[in-house]
Amino acid sequence: MSSTITSLTIIRPDDWHLHLRDGAVLASVVGDTARQFGRAIIMPNLKPPVTTVALAAAYRDRILAAQEKAGIPQRDFTPLMTLYLTDNTSVQDIEQAAKSGFVHGVKLYPAGATTNSDAGVTDLLGRCSLVLEAMQKAGLPLLVHGEVTDPDIDLFDREAVFVDRVMIPLRRAFPELKVVFEHLTTSEGVQYVRYAEGPVAATLTAHHLLYNRNALFAGGLQPHWYCLPVLKREKHRQALLDAATSGNNRFFLGTDSAPHPRGLKEAACGCAGCYTALHAMELYATAFASVDRLDRLEGFASRHGPAFYGLPENTGTLTLERADFKIPAELPMAGSTVVPLAAGQSLQWKVASTGA
Ligand code: NCD
Ligand code: ZN
Repeated sequence: MSSTITSLTIIRPDDWHLHLRDGAVLASVVGDTARQFGRAIIMPNLKPPVTTVALAAAYRDRILAAQEKAGIPQRDFTPLMTLYLTDNTSVQDIEQAAKSGFVHGVKLYPAGATTNSDAGVTDLLGRCSLVLEAMQKAGLPLLVHGEVTDPDIDLFDREAVFVDRVMIPLRRAFPELKVVFEHLTTSEGVQYVRYAEGPVAATLTAHHLLYNRNALFAGGLQPHWYCLPVLKREKHRQALLDAATSGNNRFFLGTDSAPHPRGLKEAACGCAGCYTALHAMELYATAFASVDRLDRLEGFASRHGPAFYGLPENTGTLTLERADFKIPAELPMAGSTVVPLAAGQSLQWKVASTGA
């Protein structure tokens, strides 16, 4: 596709990895996602975590109420719920989830790996075998935060080591289990997902496609660029961008937009998470345009995800235009503010409209 393109209309995209939080934060952020995406996979790492179908149903109701309040009717945005896997998740929980019609995955957080992961799994194959077997049988995907937490492993190597220590044994034991390697960040992860046998896929964030770890230290410590898994070297960014723009349907869009109030990011111990819901498609379009591959954006954003999850593609559209988009310095959020990724900078793509 020519780099002179000035407008692009694609099938309405979906976000396959999103943090919406709850209460007043949820009310503040849900509109940003629902304006761009038809559906989103909602992460269950609330406090306390969403561990049962009953908790997921109640959370879903709160999301639907918040979006309606923000002026977004149910037909325009559908939250796809997930359960938080713990050492105590039961086969019954899985059977209920599979039957529910609104739970679309179960999230694995290795205990201690990231924000609100204390209740996560301590020994996946040792503790969760029966549950994994039930998920495999039901066709319910396992969504994986793919980092080991072993303190002896260098932070930047946690994903590559996870492939060897967890992914390979997991998929050997459960070859038909659908697995999404969430927010992939390394060339080792890309290699694994490309060549593994069976139903494996990966989500890619906009920030890992656009930035390398220099962004964390440019001119001083930059807390708003800190997320988990952490940004990696340039060669990894290039491997991710290559995967995203390759047309391979194992790779699809997941923003991992993770709002934290400004004060908790700009702190002595700042928390992990980048807010990208406001300008998600602008960021992804910028990444795809950087390698002259806007023609592959629709597959990545709108077709590969539904195909993996066994859901229909959206019927609406989204149109991007080449136009200046100035990212605001901050946005109001629940009586505080949130700083969007790359605040104050400008992007050359802008969402112009969504259509029915
Ligand atoms: C996420 C959050 O804030 O909930 N943070 C992040 O850095 N991505 C958790 C997660 O997805 O790891
Ligand atoms: Zn996340």
